[in-house]
Amino acid sequence: MKPVKVGICGLGNVGGGTFNVLKRNAEEIARRAGRGIEVAQIATRRPNPKCHTGSTPTCSDVFEVVDNPEIDIVVELIGGYTVAREVVLKAIANGKHVVTANKALIAVHGNEIFARAREQGVIVAFEASVAGGIPVIKAIREGLAANQINWLAGIINGTGNFILTEMREKGRTFEDVLKEAQALGYAEADPTFDVEGIDAAHKLTILASIAFGIPLQFDKAYTEGISRLATADVNYAEALGYRIKHLGVARRTAAGIELRVHPTLIPADRLIANVNGVMNAVMVNGDAVGSTLYYGAGAGMEPTASAVVADLVDVARALTTDPNNRVPHLAFQPDALSDHPILPIGACESAYYLRIQAKDHPGVLAQVATILSERGINIESIMQKEVEEHDGLVPVILVTHRVVEQRIDDAIAALEALDDVVGSVVRIRVEQLN
Ligand code: HSE
Repeated sequence: MKPVKVGICGLGNVGGGTFNVLKRNAEEIARRAGRGIEVAQIATRRPNPKCHTGSTPTCSDVFEVVDNPEIDIVVELIGGYTVAREVVLKAIANGKHVVTANKALIAVHGNEIFARAREQGVIVAFEASVAGGIPVIKAIREGLAANQINWLAGIINGTGNFILTEMREKGRTFEDVLKEAQALGYAEADPTFDVEGIDAAHKLTILASIAFGIPLQFDKAYTEGISRLATADVNYAEALGYRIKHLGVARRTAAGIELRVHPTLIPADRLIANVNGVMNAVMVNGDAVGSTLYYGAGAGMEPTASAVVADLVDVARALTTDPNNRVPHLAFQPDALSDHPILPIGACESAYYLRIQAKDHPGVLAQVATILSERGINIESIMQKEVEEHDGLVPVILVTHRVVEQRIDDAIAALEALDDVVGSVVRIRVEQLN
């Protein structure tokens, strides 16, 4: 059978890795796909020193690849929402299948892209968009198809996890670790996407859609980053038996779907609490299967290429199939997507870690307990530290049982209004993940 012809748009880290893996494993890939997968053209603004393209035709205009009649599958590895969106829509209009690693594009413009792809009977595959080399989209979309998914929770930004790990284990500064992550090619072009949780929210939006069968709704995801995390809270969390991770959480409740990214305390003995460095992990809980865990490299040249090439194999196998019998882009049939709403953060439920800086006066703890009990907030544990020399204040740290966020907001406002409480109350969500 004739080989499938691929055009690569973007020869950066992931593009270079994709070319290298396709070349190195060509024989094994052909044995799997039933035919060869060949790179027919590459569009790139500059050569990639880690990738020797040899005689493969190269150009600088991505639209040359998109309009090349020889090409069956366009691989979009440009990133961003603008040119990438045009490339993908034009490729679809030209009747080409698309493979992309672009989570921002899928999370923000995926509904439009999939609608166009359906009209044209082409596939848009995006395994590499979430958690690098971990085949978690395939696992949820196909492997867990029997289940009603209850919740999922993941460490889905390698850069953020790398930063938290290095800060905790080696006491390095935030800026220092971020620079290293950029040099290693993990960080986004705009690293605030990593540290402020935007990249994780893109990925969570995609996971939630395929888990619950809802349209992509990135604009409704709640996003809180790690840049304001204090070392003191990392240490107090450890003392309480927890570890702080930057988690994406999606949960189905009767009222709606929670979609939130934020620093989270998780029990230190959970497997996912021990996912360190640039590694990612996603827990998925289904009603039939129970809890499952997917772990692996969440970023990097060849791990991400592994997912891109797996998609190419999938597309190569499906080229001759009836478009109506393919796996739907968002796992559920497009006319069966649900309009179950995304909940605002105030309506989400979680347990909470609170740190209060209090004056060393009698009765402070009683006032704190009264404010919480008046709002029906149950305290699970409480710890009062010794007076701090530099300001004479006493840190009071407590963990609550699960409660709707709006009630914690009210309690925090009341706590901050107390004469004996100084400054803002630190609040970090807590998830048991059991
Ligand atoms: N910047 C992303 C991360 C790359 O650090 O996880 C992979 O999506």
